[in-house]
Amino acid sequence: YGALGEVWDDEMSSNMLGKRLRKVVQNYQAMNKYGVEFSGPGGVATRPKLSGPELLCQLKEKVEVTTLTPDLKPFSSLPWSSQLPQQDMTSDIGPYKSCAVVSSAGSLRYSGLGKEIDSHDAVLRFNAAPTAGYEKDVGSKTTIRLLNSQVMASDDHRFLSSSLYSTGILVAWDPAPFSADLSQWYNKTDYPIFTQYHRYRRLHPLQPFYILHPHFEWQLWQRIQDNMAEPIQKNPPSSGLLGTVLMMSLCEAVHVYEFLPSRRKTELCHYYQRFYDAACTLGAYHPLLYEKNLVKRMNQGLDQDIYTHGRVTLPGFITLNC
Ligand code: C5P
Repeated sequence: YGALGEVWDDEMSSNMLGKRLRKVVQNYQAMNKYGVEFSGPGGVATRPKLSGPELLCQLKEKVEVTTLTPDLKPFSSLPWSSQLPQQDMTSDIGPYKSCAVVSSAGSLRYSGLGKEIDSHDAVLRFNAAPTAGYEKDVGSKTTIRLLNSQVMASDDHRFLSSSLYSTGILVAWDPAPFSADLSQWYNKTDYPIFTQYHRYRRLHPLQPFYILHPHFEWQLWQRIQDNMAEPIQKNPPSSGLLGTVLMMSLCEAVHVYEFLPSRRKTELCHYYQRFYDAACTLGAYHPLLYEKNLVKRMNQGLDQDIYTHGRVTLPGFITLNC
């Protein structure tokens, strides 16, 4: 950031990325791995830019945050369907009053935010993000962990055996083809989410473990695209935004930490790894830049809180009068 106190600008565009990142984004656009059918923004000049409250209502009305249940096809006819939770996650969990979403950004390092994060009623963390050894900066409470299918499947993460995953409620997701129904997705997952789910459940039958319905990721993608002036990556939103909207459906207030970078903004990718890449904060595969624009527009907290705490405040859907 330039001037003191300056924070994320809600009109960040891909032409503000460096040459290398711009090229990577272009390649993803051309690939269209998930067969996204969308012809590009339909003339922003004619469409007024929605206000924060209007955007919040759009999300509440058009994005269904649901999880898989055993009654859904094709799961209903599979032998392991009873391993899926009987009810949708939002009927089992919460509502919580105040929640924290902890992005895994490198800017959490030396933030001293641990106490504040732990003071919330529920804390969401992502993928392999640890708390041990980083309590001062990220806290120690983990109520929910949102996992992508890549982490569940990769050998280095030891998903089935590491104790990192054994506390809290687990929620998993996998990028589905854009217009696939559940059966088509089941036969064409990005990573073997169902095999790993099945194995994990056998080892930890008592730990709550949900799988996000893939309509959630693409309905959310559509909200981002419809509210941006340029075509966004034709890939699902990042875990960070999925988790934020998940918590907006479980909590009365959601505080997101270091999704919009604070004054500690760094190219350090994760607070828990020595790996540097601007793509982690600005996006390459995920439409992360545009996700951040949207979150900035919906923020109900002060810019000063972003600058000092990397903190954004969003209302839970139940509190909205749309
Ligand atoms: O890398 P991972 O997906 O596990 O991180 C969790 C989420 O935190 C990301 O999906 C992204 O939304 C957010 N993040 C970020 N900036 C970073 C690292 C992560 O915004 N440098």
